[in-house]
Amino acid sequence: MTVINGYEQSDREQKLTILNLPSLEAAAKKIIPSGGFGYISGGSEDEWTLKQNTMAFNHVQIVPRALTDMEQPSTQTQAFGIDLKTPIMMAPAAAQGLAHARGEAATAEGMAQVGALMAQSTYSSTSIADTAAAGKGAPQFFQLYMSKDWNFNQSLLDEAVKAGAKAIILTVDATVDGYREADIINNFQFPIPMANLTKFSEGDGKGKGIIEIYAAAAQKISPADVRRGSHVFKALANGADLVALARPIIYGLALGGAQGVASVVSHLNDELLIDMQLAGTKTIEDVKRAKLLR
Ligand SMILES: Cc1cc2nc3c(=O)[nH]c(=O)nc-3n(C[C@H](O)[C@H](O)[C@H](O)COP(=O)(O)O)c2cc1C
Repeated sequence: MTVINGYEQSDREQKLTILNLPSLEAAAKKIIPSGGFGYISGGSEDEWTLKQNTMAFNHVQIVPRALTDMEQPSTQTQAFGIDLKTPIMMAPAAAQGLAHARGEAATAEGMAQVGALMAQSTYSSTSIADTAAAGKGAPQFFQLYMSKDWNFNQSLLDEAVKAGAKAIILTVDATVDGYREADIINNFQFPIPMANLTKFSEGDGKGKGIIEIYAAAAQKISPADVRRGSHVFKALANGADLVALARPIIYGLALGGAQGVASVVSHLNDELLIDMQLAGTKTIEDVKRAKLLR
């Protein structure tokens, strides 16, 4: 364990034996300090949308297809011209130092181990350059929370391009923070600096609550939850090219560092392969053409 500003960070590095992704949350809760865990696991208000986002997948059924004379499906795919071993990717998620001392660097390493795409948040604990270096050339995206300070935006975009980011994700649906009761109860303030904010006029985020961090974000911007292999299948069959998830991978990060991250993606990918076989879909392109029952 590493202690930073009184906050206890996991420094585990191990492969995980996983029954299913939902079970990771309880295991991670035992090792992530309560303030950090509340921030990672919590949602807004009654957490109704958080629960509904996962449940919505269960109202759509995959049509099984037998006698298709196929075996060994493959999750190999291409998105934005990038070759990937799986359509499962890391969603941009802030402050992964709350889950592990190596933060996003370990996540990037784990995602690279399984040939999956990594996306890094503006509010990450490790810098764009350090996260890129940990991925050792594996494809990464950078997510921008657009600031009111355009010089800040420009300098982050320049840094992302320099570090080899393959695309920029612009988050447009989170111009303010939700009303998150877990953070209020825990009086949660980020104990760890956010590496990309160090050159920002408002400070590096350490000692601030999430509402204060969002105050610097541009509010005036114009113009998924995923837990099971079957959810990934359904998202692809609904038109997605990639399926991003954050919380289960962050729990894997806390429980096993880079190897934990790789274990989570591998497990979910194995579930997806079973669904692919039973639905008679040999490739991800076949999955995208598969029929769903609503
Ligand atoms: C702890 C945490 C931090 C997040 N930080 C960001 C962020 O910095 N930028 C962003 O665009 N989305 C952020 N998200 C949203 C994720 O990108 C993603 O949409 C969502 O978490 C997916 O749901 P899941 O975590 O339940 O898989 C965050 C989510 C979590 C759980």
